[in-house]
Amino acid sequence: MEPPEMINAGELVLKRWELGWAPDALAAIQESLPELRQFLPWATDAYNLDDFVDYVTRSREGWADGEQFNYALFTAVGELVGSIGLMTRMGPGVLEIGYWIRSPYAGRGYMTAAVNALTRVALTLPGIERVAIKFDEANKASAAVAIKAGFTEVAREEREVTAPGESGTTIVRERRH
Ligand SMILES: CC(C)(COP(=O)(O)OP(=O)(O)OC[C@H]1O[C@@H](n2cnc3c(N)ncnc32)[C@H](O)[C@@H]1OP(=O)(O)O)[C@@H](O)C(=O)NCCC(=O)NCCS
Repeated sequence: MEPPEMINAGELVLKRWELGWAPDALAAIQESLPELRQFLPWATDAYNLDDFVDYVTRSREGWADGEQFNYALFTAVGELVGSIGLMTRMGPGVLEIGYWIRSPYAGRGYMTAAVNALTRVALTLPGIERVAIKFDEANKASAAVAIKAGFTEVAREEREVTAPGESGTTIVRERRH
């Protein structure tokens, strides 16, 4: 089970993460920290190049092991505008999507387009019946993306708060074939 290394999503293209993009990725994360830190526990002022190199190294290992498939998101003119990935951690038959957008590019429909494209691909993979998005109830932008991409609510879970914007209630939305 392995998705393609490159996926077209309209104006955007998803490409498997590479270490060579580290400087640009770090700049993207650092300029987006005020938004990312609200809901992503790893996004702190201390985030640095080593953290990003670790992320890409783990991503490439995870890809080889068939456990996670993480992509950088580029515009048609090559601007690095975010990240999106598939994870197997929810168990057999389902892939979970995670994502963030570079703040100056938010609100243009980019993540909705990327989620739609990646979901279509995920649902063609052998044994995959559902794609899931999990987000905190307070994360209205993430909720809007999941709703616009056709994911329906299947569960609510209480869990420990791990980032400053979170309420502690996680909503699970899914899309099927
Ligand atoms: C979630 C995120 C990836 C969305 O990326 P994006 O490219 O801006 O998404 P889109 O442009 O496709 O859609 C965003 C939608 O959220 C809506 N939105 C944004 N902020 C909102 C808010 N505070 N309240 C309600 N809706 C909001 C936008 O209006 C838009 O919906 P619309 O098209 O119906 O108007 C981005 O906000 C982000 O990176 N957030 C921080 C990291 C994060 O939370 N990741 C997900 C963890 S589950």
